[in-house]
Amino acid sequence: MPESFLGDGLVFEEALPVVWTAGPLAEGLALARLNADNHQLLGAEASLDEVRVHEALKDESPALIHELQRLEYKVNILLRLAAELALRNSGLPAAQRIRLTSRALEWFGDATPAVGSTGLLAVYVNAALPQPVRIPCVVAGERMQCDLRAAQMRFSGLSDAVVEQLDKLGIVYLHVVDPVTDGIKRVSPLLRRKFNRTYIVNGGFDIDSANAAIHGGEADLVAFGTPFLANPDLPQRYRINASLNVPDQATFYAGEDKGFTDYLALA
Ligand SMILES: Cc1cc2nc3c(=O)[nH]c(=O)nc-3n(C[C@H](O)[C@H](O)[C@H](O)COP(=O)(O)O)c2cc1C
Repeated sequence: MPESFLGDGLVFEEALPVVWTAGPLAEGLALARLNADNHQLLGAEASLDEVRVHEALKDESPALIHELQRLEYKVNILLRLAAELALRNSGLPAAQRIRLTSRALEWFGDATPAVGSTGLLAVYVNAALPQPVRIPCVVAGERMQCDLRAAQMRFSGLSDAVVEQLDKLGIVYLHVVDPVTDGIKRVSPLLRRKFNRTYIVNGGFDIDSANAAIHGGEADLVAFGTPFLANPDLPQRYRINASLNVPDQATFYAGEDKGFTDYLALA
């Protein structure tokens, strides 16, 4: 297989407004300023959809944590409204199909810049943010896909921090059913290497194999299906090392309450 211009990692594909300004590649102070602005913008982008209880708050009361999460939602809604208003006034360029990684992108369309040219590509990565990420690019090549030309643009001079943030753009988490059964080849070790955001796995895990998967770096989180179905108080049982109700396979997918709502919790 010919090597892809974007590499073999995950690609963020989206229709996003972009603006190209031809010119020499940014360097020195101008480049440092671009990196600082991009870092700030991508940091804001990452926090928009993320409502995460901060490590420092994990021992606080659930009511306080709930209240803080509610506030965070409210602030996010206000930010989105403010951005919408700002965009309504200024207007945005039309959305263009792009495929993006942290090092390069492909831009599909007829108005893309010529191979060999350099400039600054402004990409509006999130409709809630009226500011674009601005990336110095070299147009390194082009390709055709279904009668559409794609300009292949390599990023130039981005700081490591911005590269890391771009890597995380798009998908927030990946949840894969990858059974932990002995002898079956599993996809998680491969996917884990390719995917840098929250990776969740499930399929036959118990507390020990789940902890092993997390501590071994195979996953960030493990989900439980049937153990939860049969044990409404599963976290509590795991916490105190109690025995578990055994799920009754005869009532799986049965379309009735039995086997879904009648397993007993610990007294
Ligand atoms: C009764 C039942 C209903 C399920 N429904 C869904 C479903 O709607 N969507 C889904 O993605 N997986 C569903 N699953 C699969 C589970 O999410 C999970 O992948 C599977 O049970 C293996 O994980 P486990 O060993 O932790 O149960 C269902 C499983 C069972 C037993």
